[in-house]
Amino acid sequence: MTKEEKLKYIFNAIKKAYPNKKLVFNDGSPDMPVMIIGEAPGKDEEIQGKPFVGRAGKLLNATLEKLGWKRSDFYVTNIVRYRPQDGMGGTLTPTPEEIEKFRLALEKEIDVVGPKLIVVLGRIAMTGLGIEGSMSSNRGNIIDKKIGEVERKILIVYHPAAILRNMNWEPIFREDLAKIRELI
Ligand code: URA
Repeated sequence: MTKEEKLKYIFNAIKKAYPNKKLVFNDGSPDMPVMIIGEAPGKDEEIQGKPFVGRAGKLLNATLEKLGWKRSDFYVTNIVRYRPQDGMGGTLTPTPEEIEKFRLALEKEIDVVGPKLIVVLGRIAMTGLGIEGSMSSNRGNIIDKKIGEVERKILIVYHPAAILRNMNWEPIFREDLAKIRELI
């Protein structure tokens, strides 16, 4: 089976488990060496069916472009595959239970893609991968962590939505993402 076929298999299993949800899966080729992981789709992602296409995604793309990359140089995914919502249709932060429901599928996705480096965006994705500590102490750090059977390199950076809330952090976000170059 090709990587694409294996991913389809994983995503089909998720579709079966959540037949009534609008699901958002991956973007980019699984042959790219860097896998970017966010928390969950928002409204724009739900509409377009792709991760990181809204305001946070645009900031992520612009920052990657400032560093000389294109978005298509990366494989992009989320830990939770649907938009967590309140009763009024507002977007919520995924709960630990929701993250737990998707953790195994994410591990399998990582296994299939086999990235040289994983970049986690924000606290939710970071804790979802079992990394402890706060964002302020972990950001910019590269750690080795066993995911499934394989030790992976993980770079921890702020979530672009946090940068939209505080543009003073944009240089830090850019500096942290620039570390990708040292690692691939
Ligand atoms: N935030 C995320 O974590 N993921 C997306 O796909 C969009 C916004």
